[in-house]
Amino acid sequence: MSGCPYFQRRHQLINKLDEEVDDSQEGTNKASKGGIIYGDYLQLDKIVTSQLLQSELKGNKIHDEHLFIVTHQAYELWFKQILWELDSVREIFISGHVRDERNMLKVNTRIHRIVMVLRLLVDQFAVLETMTALDFYDFREYLSPASGFQSLQFRLLENKIGVCDSGRVPYNRRHYRDNFKGQESELLLRSEQEPTLLQLVEKWLERTPGLEEDGFNFWGKLQTNIFEGIRKEREATEKMPDSEFKEEKMDELNKQKDLFVSLFDEKRHEHLLSKGERRLSYKALQGALMIYFYREEPRFQVPFQLLTSLMDIDTFMTKWRYNHVCMVHRMIGSKTGTGGSSGYLYLRSTVSDRYKVFVDLFNLATFLVPRDWVPKLSPNEHPFLYTAECCDSSYFSSDDSD
Ligand code: HEM
Repeated sequence: MSGCPYFQRRHQLINKLDEEVDDSQEGTNKASKGGIIYGDYLQLDKIVTSQLLQSELKGNKIHDEHLFIVTHQAYELWFKQILWELDSVREIFISGHVRDERNMLKVNTRIHRIVMVLRLLVDQFAVLETMTALDFYDFREYLSPASGFQSLQFRLLENKIGVCDSGRVPYNRRHYRDNFKGQESELLLRSEQEPTLLQLVEKWLERTPGLEEDGFNFWGKLQTNIFEGIRKEREATEKMPDSEFKEEKMDELNKQKDLFVSLFDEKRHEHLLSKGERRLSYKALQGALMIYFYREEPRFQVPFQLLTSLMDIDTFMTKWRYNHVCMVHRMIGSKTGTGGSSGYLYLRSTVSDRYKVFVDLFNLATFLVPRDWVPKLSPNEHPFLYTAECCDSSYFSSDDSD
């Protein structure tokens, strides 16, 4: 066979290919030349040696406790990343850099990143759910009284976004901060006192160009257009022959009128604010509605995306709570939690609007009106929509310096 010219050629070809493959895999071992290496850069010696199974320490190693620990650690790392992004965004607002509208893209990117991490965290429960309730039961006693309720980063996250302290579901009639001591408790207190994302966004919305009463006066114009629109529709309906349809239509128009009377009633807004049913100031609500209506205009496209992402944060936080409580129900039924709460019942009550921060943005959809009721804007008459950021001096001359 070795004398066969076909096999010789084939053999030569295979050797050549092998050489080529080897060539392509040749490289320089940069690590041997010094500098930081992978494990050191990522401090892996600390991370991968931090899974101490309590069951193993107690002489009864339970396989699934490893997954339980790694899952919680992964969550805490992602919480850390969210806080990192959130603090940087809050800093852009606090330092006033947001007044240069070019920075809005950075704000948007980071808030969107938070949304993407939250989306991942919502799905991540599926991995832990591969553990059965019985497997969990085998090691649950070893971790008591540790509980996710003691997660410092989760509480910081809630506070910095703007979860309202008075809206929290009481936990064993204790304040949530009582579970923390020393420096952790101080950090939490500070996070309650510092401006939240909600408050910073509120101040920014209050400056929405076009709200000025002596300028475009969006709110005044909108009010006139809406009540004029409803009046015309009522007039047209009244001319219809009597019928069930006419009655229903009149009922609907009356309800619509009441709804808009309440929207333009500042006192009512203050009342809803005091009850925690609205969270944004009256002016900020106007700014948000303006951005909704004019979202296609160049200056409002990025702000509109931001408002959408803020709602996504609330949505994914709610989904997180929901997936967590479903998993808890499956794992411990209606037993009390290791942290001492009623467990499932307590957690179920947190899946509620009480924990929503940007609830006003969701409710804005209630006040959407036909496009022809929205005050008209034109590039020639209203250049503010087309000239943004640092060049627009009127936008920056506002006296609040936050
Ligand atoms: C087998 C899996 C899990 C079970 C059975 C479980 C159970 C519970 C229970 C019963 C509570 C209420 C407090 C208490 O009485 O202890 C709680 C709260 C909490 N857990 Fe979990 N949990 C599990 C997985 C996780 C994971 C993977 C995380 C991710 C970090 C987590 C984070 C939290 C947080 C942040 C709270 C406080 C929620 C609030 O008060 O709104 N838990 N958990």
